[in-house]
Parts: sequence; structure tokens; C-alpha cells
Amino acid sequence: MVQLKQSPLPLRNDSFEQQLKLVSVQLEDVLKAILPPPNTRLHEAMAYSVLGGGKRLRAFLTHAAADLFSVPSKTALDVAAAIEFVHAYSLVHDDLPAMDNADMRRNKPSCHKAYGEATAILVGDALIPLAFQTLSALKTSNDVRLELIHELSRVIGSGGLVAGQMIDLNQEGPIVTEEDLLTLQRLKTGVLFGFATEAGAILGHASSSEREALKNFGLLFGRMFQMVDDWLDGCGDEKVTGKPSHQDKDKLTFLTLLGPQALRKKVEETLKEALDVLSPFGEKAAPLKEAAQYACRWGTK
Ligand code: IPE
Ligand code: IPE
Ligand code: MG
Ligand code: MG
Ligand code: MG
Repeated sequence: MVQLKQSPLPLRNDSFEQQLKLVSVQLEDVLKAILPPPNTRLHEAMAYSVLGGGKRLRAFLTHAAADLFSVPSKTALDVAAAIEFVHAYSLVHDDLPAMDNADMRRNKPSCHKAYGEATAILVGDALIPLAFQTLSALKTSNDVRLELIHELSRVIGSGGLVAGQMIDLNQEGPIVTEEDLLTLQRLKTGVLFGFATEAGAILGHASSSEREALKNFGLLFGRMFQMVDDWLDGCGDEKVTGKPSHQDKDKLTFLTLLGPQALRKKVEETLKEALDVLSPFGEKAAPLKEAAQYACRWGTK
């Protein structure tokens, strides 16, 4: 594994990890309460794919962004749950043989390995409406509910996450330039992170400039996160990532384009850009900043 240079930022931040754990534990309860009881094979496979794993970073970001505007924690967690349902669906489908063909996810057999391909496809199909059902039941004004539903449906559709997955699978022509890679990363990963932070602003009736800043932070977070994910694919430890490495070795990624050292530099630059976007929020944005620092270092040692 590539050794990282000494960095001014702490490699571990226990207090952030404690905060993340706290949000994760609360989120788990919310997810369990919304998921159908595991009384059928499909419901069992849905619970298998959603519960008991994952870093829960998107959920943390939504919770922390909403907290800037004193949104009740339970409301933020409900929105975070909707995002986690979408995220879990995207992973279940991403791992399918027709897509990345990955056998492990979150340190256990991927959904299709445990339940078969047909069930895994249907798990994804069922998690998407569950996300929107969750948003439609929020205890907020109709305007806020509708805005969240509108934005989430927009960012995960054929102009967002699904478009990114198509590009990643080389179904839309070759990825050649760094610009192509940035577009791919924004679509497959960035826009859901952008929604995670923007959702906090929507819940909090933020001003348009605050909303824009939070969305931009999420997009930059997502860019940095996917760069780290690409780095981990080549330089990380499967025991830490919980999924197979070297899936992308024949693809153009930031790792194959730049090499590990230059990529780490780019990750640091993107982190700085993301942190700068939060300056209007001052000290209150500390949890969001710590989340970005944590994600920047995640899995590197
Ligand atoms: C994996 O996301 C998919 C990417 C966008 C790289 P995460 O690394 O957030 O997955 P979990 O939820 O922690 O398992
Ligand atoms: C996954 O990207 C993006 C989505 C699931 C939308 P990757 O294919 O790089 O994610 P991992 O590495 O399998 O987690
Ligand atoms: Mg993929
Ligand atoms: Mg994959
Ligand atoms: Mg990856």
C-alpha cells in the first residue's frame, strides 16, 4: 500500500467517529421501523441489503446539514433513511453480474450471491419506492415534502445516478479525458451526496445561497469520495473496504489516469475546496467538515 505523507489533518478523529456512530445507531432504528418485517424472502433480502453495515456517510451529512437549521433529528433521520434506501438499491444493482459482478459487499456476500439474481433485482426495485414512500410520509409542510421528492427523483434518474452508471459501464462511449471522469463521478456518486446535504437545507427552509452552498459541498464531497473509492480499488485493503479490490483495473479511473500519489494530491485539493464552500456557516459547520476529513482519509491505513 502507498504510504501517505504526513498531513496537517488528524488521521483519526475519535469525536467525529463517535458522532457518526451515534447517528448510525439512531438511523438503524429508523430503517428497521420503516422496512417491512422480514416475513417473505424479498423482505428478508431487503433487510439484508440495508441493515447492519455501511458507513452511513450520506445519512450523517443530511443529519448534520439539517442540524444547521435546528431541524428535528427524527425528521432528518427519516430523510436520511430514504437516501440510504436509494443508496442500498444502487449497491445491490451495482454488484449484479451484468454490472460490476462483485461477490462481496460490506464484508458479506452481495445480495445476488446470498439470494440470487432475480431477488436482487427485485430488492432494488422495491427499495426505490420505499424511499419515496418514506419522503411522502414526512411530517413537514407539503412544499418541503414535494421539493424533496422532486429533487431526489431528479438526481437518481436518467440525468443523474443512472446516467452515471451507464457511462461507467461504457454504454455511452469511451471515457477519455479527466473532464469525462469528473462528469461520471458527479453523476454516479456526486449528485446523491449533493442531495444528502441539500436535503438538510430544504428541510431547514434555508436561503437560496445557503442551499446552494450545501449542495455544492455535497457535490465536492461526492467527487472526493469517489476519488478515494477509486484509490481504494487499487491500493486499499479488501478487509477494510468489505468489497473486492481491482474491479476497475481495466477502466479509466482517477487512479489509472493519475497514479496513486497524484490522485492523493487531488483528493486533498478537493477536500480543501469542499471545506472552503462551508465558510459562510462558520463553526456550526464543524461536523460537516469533520465528515469530509474523515472520508478523505477513510481506508488509507
Ligand atoms: C459505495 O458507497 C459506492 C460508492 C459511491 C463508491 P459507500 O462507500 O458509501 O458504501 P457504504 O454505504 O459505506 O457501504
Ligand atoms: C458505485 O460505484 C456507484 C453507485 C452504486 C451508484 P462503484 O462501482 O465504484 O462502487 P463500489 O466500488 O462497487 O462500491
Ligand atoms: Mg460500479
Ligand atoms: Mg461497483
Ligand atoms: Mg468503486
